[in-house]
This record gives sequence, structure tokens and C-alpha cells, in this order.
Amino acid sequence: MSKVYGVVLIGCGHIGQEHIENIYYRDNIKIVGVVDYVLERAELFSRKYSCGEKVLYSTDHKEMIARDDVDIVIVATYVNTHLQILKDCLAAGKHVLCEKPIASTVEEGKEFYDLVKASDRKVLVAHILRHNDTYTKAAELIHQGLIGDVRLIRMVQNHHIMNRERYAALLNDCSPIVDCGVHYIDVVKWFTGCDIVSVDGMGAVVNEENVPEGGFDYGMISMRLSNGGMAYYEAGWTNSTASQNIKEFVGTKGRIRLVLRDFREEHKEEGDLLEVYDDATKNYSFINIHAQYKNMNAQLQTLIDMIEHDTDGFPTMDDAFEAFCVALEADEKIRRGIKKYWEMKSLKK
Ligand SMILES: NC(=O)c1ccc[n+]([C@@H]2O[C@H](COP(=O)([O-])OP(=O)(O)OC[C@H]3O[C@@H](n4cnc5c(N)ncnc54)[C@H](O)[C@@H]3O)[C@@H](O)[C@H]2O)c1
Repeated sequence: MSKVYGVVLIGCGHIGQEHIENIYYRDNIKIVGVVDYVLERAELFSRKYSCGEKVLYSTDHKEMIARDDVDIVIVATYVNTHLQILKDCLAAGKHVLCEKPIASTVEEGKEFYDLVKASDRKVLVAHILRHNDTYTKAAELIHQGLIGDVRLIRMVQNHHIMNRERYAALLNDCSPIVDCGVHYIDVVKWFTGCDIVSVDGMGAVVNEENVPEGGFDYGMISMRLSNGGMAYYEAGWTNSTASQNIKEFVGTKGRIRLVLRDFREEHKEEGDLLEVYDDATKNYSFINIHAQYKNMNAQLQTLIDMIEHDTDGFPTMDDAFEAFCVALEADEKIRRGIKKYWEMKSLKK
């Protein structure tokens, strides 16, 4: 019989819910406890996800992770708490699945990276697209050479925000370029195998009331790849941009366009769509994929595989750290550019 892993979830918010919902009933998982600053949230998760034995709940993660029956800690808290919680988990001898981004500054990110590299515990950074079947299939086709050498990647991820409070809280922590960008910067390296040799960016303040001073709610970054190609990524969380999702990979022999189920005009019931264009024949082919967008169980099983077979997982800590560094460099460049806007605003006061 396979080992049953004792799991603690810290952070009973939006993404914490996606994690636990997908794993609490699995045969090889036992949710030992849930933790949140807000006791009512932890208590609610305990009631909802107790399956057989009662799930413990607390506001104090240290007390919970000290338990002998805990093997793995899932960290789904605010970005600026990730480093401290990682330290506490490693000190308690636990393996960690930590939400991205790993930190909110380069210095903290480097400390996070160094701690993971020096530890004998396994740490997986939650880049969920690595565990998504649609993205995995697109990566596989590109690696097989189907579209030739990838020279251009277009990626757009705009949200028309309907819940101002939630996005204002997110913007307080980090910009969309860092928060969501780390996923897609990682996709560039994963799909092409290329290094990102330089990055630049511009941003705008669209709805000032949502944005902390010095920040921005819309950003666009460009990346130069080591094969001479380029990628861009656009992300906005504003009251008035239209929600849009473009993922297009253009190579010397053709193109792959990825259309998520929600963005298909028809046949949504068939799942996500991979549209492949072959330049030699001028033909299109279509692949439907019933992928779970956020396959939290597959992600956790990757960590378990890392523990059981002493592997590095995907993304590796190096991959996650590289994506984080590129995102932070782009973010800093955008903030420099946007400084003028904030200076003008303070002069008008
Ligand atoms: N992988 C993805 O697709 C994805 C999607 C959304 C968010 N995220 C990431 O997940 C993290 C959380 O985002 P969210 O949208 O779930 O936020 P959220 O505000 O919905 O939830 C965070 C929860 O953590 C709790 N919390 C924060 N610090 C804590 C601490 N030190 N101890 C105990 N509880 C604490 C808060 O009270 C809150 O309930 C962020 O790093 C975010 O970037 C990832």
C-alpha cells in the first residue's frame, strides 16, 4: 500500500480552496490541519473538508507544522509571507508546495532559492501550468519540432475586474506582471528551451483607486530569446479592459494557438482547443483537450514523486527562480517608467 501523506494547508483563501478541493479525498492524502489568520476561514475549511477524521484548524502555522503526522505543507498565503513560512517549514523538517511568486523582492527571492538549494527537504513552487494537460501537449508538440524553431510568442492575460476588493488586495502585494507573469515567463523557457537574454516593459495606471502609489494595474513586457526570437506578455487587472486570453506560439514551420475552453466561440463542451497551422501544407489541424485548468492534485503528486524518487520536479527551483528574476526585472523597469505619472499626480495635490 502506498504511503499516506499528512498535509497542512496554510492560507484558506481563493487558491487555498482550489488546492484542498482537489486533494482532500485522495487515498494517499490525509489533511491533518488548515491554518488561516482569520480563524473563521480555517474553521470553515475544517468543517467542509473533514473526511473521516476531523481536520484540525488554527491561526498559528508553527503549532500545526510541528506535528509528527505532517509530511507536506501547502503554502497558499500572501506573497510577503512565503519566505518566513518556508523557513519555518524547513526548520520543522517538512516538504513544501509553495504558491508563486516565491517572494516580493529580489533579495527575499534569493534567500528563498538558497534555502531550498541547501535543504534536504523537497520544495515545489506552484507553477500550475506545468501540470496542465493542454500546456503539456503544446510543449510536447513544440519539442517534437512540429512548428520548427519558435521565433515569436504572443501571450495576453487581461482581466476585467468585477471584484475590486480582491484585485486591490492583490495589487497591494505585487503587480500582475509578477503575480501572473511568472507562470508565462516560465512557459517561454519550458516551451522553447531558450534563455531569456533581456527583458523590457511598459505599464499604465488605468484605475488609480485600485493601485498603491508607485504601482500600475496594466503592464506589457517584451523578452528577447537566446535563439534571436521574442516573446511578449500583457497583463492587466482593470475595471475597464476586456477579459482576453491569447496564447500563440509561432515557429519557422507553423503555429500553435491555444484557446482555453472559456474563450472558445463554440464547442466549449470539447474542452480546450489546440489549433495547429502547418505552413508547408497550409493546413490546420485541431486537438481538443479535456484539461483541468488548475490540476492541484497532479501538482501535489509531482511533489510526492520528488520525495519518493529524489527528483527535482518541474519546474525545478532554478526554473522558478529564473522566471521570478525576469518578472522582477520587468516590474522594476515598468515602475521606473511610471514614476513620472506618480510625480505629476503628487504635484497636482
Ligand atoms: N497558481 C495560481 O494560479 C494562483 C492563483 C491565484 C493566486 N495565487 C497565489 O496564491 C497566493 C494567495 O493568493 P489568493 O488569491 O489565494 O489570496 P487570498 O487573499 O484569497 O487568500 C490568502 C489567505 O491567506 C491567509 N493568510 C495570509 N497570510 C497568512 C499567514 N501568514 N498565516 C495564515 N494565513 C495567512 C489570508 O487570511 C487569506 O485567507 C498568492 O501568492 C497568489 O499569487 C496563485
